[in-house]
Amino acid sequence: MSNYHIKNLEEYFQVYRKSVRNPEEFWEEVAEEHFVWRKKWDSVLDWDFSKPEIKWFDGAQLNITENCIDRHLHIRGNKTAILFEPNDPNEAAEHITYRQLHERVCKFANVLKDNGIKKGDRVVIYLPMIPELAISVLACARIGAVHSVVFAGFSSTALATRINDCEAKMVIASDGSYRGAKTIDLKGIVDEALTQCPGVETVLVAKRTGATIHMEEGRDHWLEPLLEKAYSDFPAEIMEAEDPLFILYTSGSTGRPKGMMHTTAGYMVYTAFTFKNVFQYRENDIYWCTADIGWITGHSYIVYGPLANGATTVMFEGVPSYPDFGRFWEVVQKHKVTQFYTAPTAIRALAKENLDFVTKYDLSSLKVLGTVGEPINEEAWHWYNDHVGEKKCPIVDTWWQTETGGVLVSPIPFSTPTKPTYATLPMPGVQPALMDENGKEIKGNQVDGRLCIKFPWPSIARTIWGDHQRYKDTYFSAFEGKYFTGDGALRDEVGYYRITGRVDDVIIVSGHNLGTAPIEDAINEHPAVAESAIVGFPHDIKGNALYGYIILKETGESRDRDNLKKEVNQMITEHIGPIAKLDKIQFVPGLPKTRSGKIMRRILRKIASKDTGNLGDISTLLNPEVVDLIMKESL
Ligand code: PRX
Repeated sequence: MSNYHIKNLEEYFQVYRKSVRNPEEFWEEVAEEHFVWRKKWDSVLDWDFSKPEIKWFDGAQLNITENCIDRHLHIRGNKTAILFEPNDPNEAAEHITYRQLHERVCKFANVLKDNGIKKGDRVVIYLPMIPELAISVLACARIGAVHSVVFAGFSSTALATRINDCEAKMVIASDGSYRGAKTIDLKGIVDEALTQCPGVETVLVAKRTGATIHMEEGRDHWLEPLLEKAYSDFPAEIMEAEDPLFILYTSGSTGRPKGMMHTTAGYMVYTAFTFKNVFQYRENDIYWCTADIGWITGHSYIVYGPLANGATTVMFEGVPSYPDFGRFWEVVQKHKVTQFYTAPTAIRALAKENLDFVTKYDLSSLKVLGTVGEPINEEAWHWYNDHVGEKKCPIVDTWWQTETGGVLVSPIPFSTPTKPTYATLPMPGVQPALMDENGKEIKGNQVDGRLCIKFPWPSIARTIWGDHQRYKDTYFSAFEGKYFTGDGALRDEVGYYRITGRVDDVIIVSGHNLGTAPIEDAINEHPAVAESAIVGFPHDIKGNALYGYIILKETGESRDRDNLKKEVNQMITEHIGPIAKLDKIQFVPGLPKTRSGKIMRRILRKIASKDTGNLGDISTLLNPEVVDLIMKESL
């Protein structure tokens, strides 16, 4: 198991040095020793960031589901692969063994095939956190179809945009979903979306809530009867290393969502490697990541990374506050969870509640705690460390992105000494660089700058689906020859990294990546709105919340402002989803603009954050007088 499981800091540095000195040899060794291949690669890495083109393990053939399922059957066939914990604590948890998972994935793959899906077709999955979600993802991978999971909190418009962008032929959905005390009409959302998606031929519907729903004749089919009669074996499609595995949409600072495309071999190797090391996963551990599979965290660290390691991965359908704020800890106690991975926003929300919700449960099974999605503030870090980890569980603050496929910067528990709010050190093979605004690399320690990565790692997204130019412009143009993350970071005196936040117009709200442009576009569709600008401002629980500045059309001036605010948030809910709703809305006479017509968001951000002592240079503004007017009425 040479360099697969890092055991101490010295070994980390050794492995890291090797991985940087000779990346190909390093990753080849990992790939050789820990996976099954139908055919080995001709070359480990071919890359050119100027095109950009990146190929890992080119020439190799494999199927990721053989690595995640089949190869475990003879050694751990009866071990639980997926442990499903339902929304309602009174409903029994479901233990799906590797053998059962194999059968269910094979059956599902046969249903896909019988419904006309073949290698390369795109399938959109719009499901709540029920086993069918993980199973359908794996079934797509087994048949070689490209899955695109859309988080089941997105609106029908957002769903339709994604279905059309990747030209999906099929949608997999459920009748409804549970979320705490609420039941959601998921199929209704799908029906509405599909009025705008002529390319979708088939909808497979899983039964979850038993709600009465519309089934479109010829298009919609209940999944269960099809699965029941499906054959329980399915030979895995042989995939090329660089064949697409999935598309996952993420917000950009402008325009349409970006369909990040991940490919097969490199993604598998990197997510498996990082899962094992970042969580120090051992056989018989019970690992739980609370994310939704609709996000990259769920793809890499609920499904692929854990299953590639033969782990038991918990899938939780519910929310942290239902039936009460002790739900997470009750689940940890019940299943004796050993690794627990969540988002800072959840920690902050739970830290506000009575400590009894935590202390009444036995959390002694926990070994490692993780966070992801946004910077974790010091207070939340300590609460997590003191009360959940009882000061004995290292916290892995894992920094990464939808685009990176896997964790790039994180402590390795029991090896890397942790430091609150610091993601600490790069994973093996990851070469970070901090850049100044003139495009020069800032060397040395105790510095800060824009975070770039200088060298490819195996799970980097290969393109934006259907728009390679945008991929190049967004990630490889700001700093020549480097991948630009969009984040700012500092490096402390010992070389630890701390991610300070986005330096572009993406705002992270409750760990969700939201672009300002799509929200503004949604607001601007309101007939009374002339123009709008969205910025983030600090929020106790969400990390950031959204503040909208809106200019009304003349026709809107006479309207009731409270009603207008409600309507604006309704527009956003319909176009994107409730996660993008604005916390504050201010109607303004104008927006501060530069002479070239660009909104100066820096000023709006300062006003929203009540940090107006020093607005900085506003000499380039076309309309400086508007700043005072906005400040006077700020919320
Ligand atoms: O700004 C960083 C923040 O989340 C962004 C990526 O968001 P997304 O693609 O949705 O993926 C989230 C889950 C991997 C990053 O550019 N971010 C993520 N993790 C951290 C973080 N910021 C600070 N610390 C983190 N640990």
